[in-house]
Amino acid sequence: MKKRILTGDRPTGKLHLGHYVGSLANRIKLQDEYETYIIIADVQALTDNFNNPEKIRASLTEVALDYLAVGIDPSKATIFVQSMVPEIAELTVFFMNMTTVARVAQNPTVKNEMREKGYDEEIPFGFFAYPVSQAADILCVNAHLVPAGADQLPMIEQTRDIARNFNRLYGETFVETESLVSDFSRLPGLDGNAKMSKSLNNAIYLSDSSEILREKIMKMYTDPNRIHATDPGTVEGNVAFVYHDAFNPNKDEVADLKERYQKGTVGDVEVKTKLFHALDAFLAPIHEKRAFYEARPDEVRQILIDGTARARAKAAETMERVRHAMKIDYFK
Ligand code: TRP
Repeated sequence: MKKRILTGDRPTGKLHLGHYVGSLANRIKLQDEYETYIIIADVQALTDNFNNPEKIRASLTEVALDYLAVGIDPSKATIFVQSMVPEIAELTVFFMNMTTVARVAQNPTVKNEMREKGYDEEIPFGFFAYPVSQAADILCVNAHLVPAGADQLPMIEQTRDIARNFNRLYGETFVETESLVSDFSRLPGLDGNAKMSKSLNNAIYLSDSSEILREKIMKMYTDPNRIHATDPGTVEGNVAFVYHDAFNPNKDEVADLKERYQKGTVGDVEVKTKLFHALDAFLAPIHEKRAFYEARPDEVRQILIDGTARARAKAAETMERVRHAMKIDYFK
């Protein structure tokens, strides 16, 4: 029997290169080996966007298109919509008993986001509860593995705690989910920020056209201490070279550019132009596939409907086991 994976994204916009290296690339590799579930986490997205449902609705389609464009294969992977699997909400309620407010408050990802969103004073209850809801996303299919970016590690740790507590109280029901983080789990932003993110406005989107890609690369941050192309430059942590390492398949070209950069015999423009060509070539087949699906909205919709039905069937099975373990299977 194949082991199960669950991973996914909040539909709050189009996906970017950070998503690709942090998680999408792993999913594409793993979908052959594992029973793969990919959640479009609209309920979670609404926890901090409840006042903007149009954005979430529009992003749901964009995220689905991005998945299909990068090569997530709906005949192998089950792509589904969180809010259309009410078993997840049900499981969330029971999981709330398996953790504490203090434990969630210590979660570094939650802490970070609270600061970013200015929730330090008044935190919406729904947002605060999202780590518990994410545990339900993962455990509604009893996933063995979650391939995700490094920022998701505290969420997976929290999920394991909840599973352990549940198992201890009610008997062995859930697996202890492991995480799988890629080598490039945190791609820096164009501005040199440690994280590429929509809210920081420093992202290259998978759907960015060649023109936009070129513009963004030409404006990107490199070595701030290097003023002239003849100054020796720093390669380590230099965003342009981090991207070269991640996306330029021509390793000899990258090695040559690095060497010349350190000696001060290559300018930023050449480094960036070569990066543009590498990324443009990387994105071309993704754009082609996206265009294919954009022209077939009914097919995309059906993929989501079918995936959601499969995920729901699996979640219903889990809920039966949960109800039995918790002795609330009254009417069976
Ligand atoms: N929290 C994830 C993010 O912000 C999205 C997500 C929701 C997720 N449920 C998940 C990721 C389950 C992995 C597993 O990107």
